[in-house]
Amino acid sequence: MKPKVLATREVFDEILQYLSQHFDVTSNQSDVPLNPETLAMRLSDKQGALITLSDRIDGALLARCPNLKAVCNIAVGYNNIDLQACTKARVMATNTPGVLDDTTGDFTWALILATARRLTEAESYLRNGEWDGWKLKQFLGLDVHHATLGIFGLGRIGQVVARRAIGFEMKVIYHDVRRTPSEIEKACHATFVTKEELLGQADIVTIHVPYSSATHHLIGKQELERMKLTAILINASRGGIVDDTALIEALRKGTLAGAGLDVFENEPKLNPGFLELKNVVLAPHIASSSKATRLKMAMLAAQNLVAALTGKTPPNLLNPF
Ligand code: NAP
Ligand code: 8YV
Repeated sequence: MKPKVLATREVFDEILQYLSQHFDVTSNQSDVPLNPETLAMRLSDKQGALITLSDRIDGALLARCPNLKAVCNIAVGYNNIDLQACTKARVMATNTPGVLDDTTGDFTWALILATARRLTEAESYLRNGEWDGWKLKQFLGLDVHHATLGIFGLGRIGQVVARRAIGFEMKVIYHDVRRTPSEIEKACHATFVTKEELLGQADIVTIHVPYSSATHHLIGKQELERMKLTAILINASRGGIVDDTALIEALRKGTLAGAGLDVFENEPKLNPGFLELKNVVLAPHIASSSKATRLKMAMLAAQNLVAALTGKTPPNLLNPF
């Protein structure tokens, strides 16, 4: 008998075909997110799962899934998984690093350019029929070229964002929990600075750290106050790293020029304050969403699942086994 697995959300046909060669597959092709109770029920007789950021895997769920051996996230971020609880329950957890770096880095640049040059605000103005002609002072934005880019987290995606800044002839500074090896700094033309220096010097601050208790509200009221009045903040990492209430307040008061956001606290619910602001560019968590990359992410997660349930070490195992 083949092991039973669940894909908790809709996946591509290629993924279902691949998984079906190895497993008895059930997939939530209706794509309605499963609440914790339904998730526990649907996983109770399964050996493995392809999961996403909306599925919380914790001790309470694992206690109800005695057959479960592997949970494979279709995401590089894994703050939805309690790794300690997985290890205790002898459940392997995996993620999808690497395959989404370029696509997520590209989208970060879409947010940087759209926010700096006020693109969505200008487009709304045009669509609303408000444009009555050219004006010298119309939609004056922030120059990206030759500006200072401040990167929090010079990891895989942070490095992609830094390398793309070379084309804009920018000064790149970064802060990380530890200094990156000098050959990576050189390739990225990036200089290590303290958190305070980064906030005070950067024209554009972009965040690429994982979400954890250590990075919860990494950017709050105090940090926003350290930023230049003319600066913009970009977040394509995780909701909760930025204090959304403090950010809305800063954008409302004009103590920060703008923000470009792909992720939010309590998503998919949006703090309504964002919708009242013109100086913010908003996206529904799509930074990795190119067809090729989402397919690669789902396939890598599926390969992790196959390895985990066929006695091999999954390529992206997150917890000790
Ligand atoms: P990564 O390679 O692990 O890079 C993260 C970097 O942040 C590492 O250098 C890490 O240092 C550093 N870091 C950790 N805590 C920090 C702190 N408190 N202050 C400063 N730096 C800190 O991860 P990645 O692949 O680039 O992905 C980063 C995050 O982006 C993911 O965790 C995910 O949440 C998010 N993401 C979002 C999307 C989207 O669709 N919006 C897409 C992809 C990824 P150490 O390695 O030393 O811990
Ligand atoms: C995913 C992401 O779209 O990889 C991550 O960490 O945030 C995105 O690429 C999302 O998490 C799907 O689970």
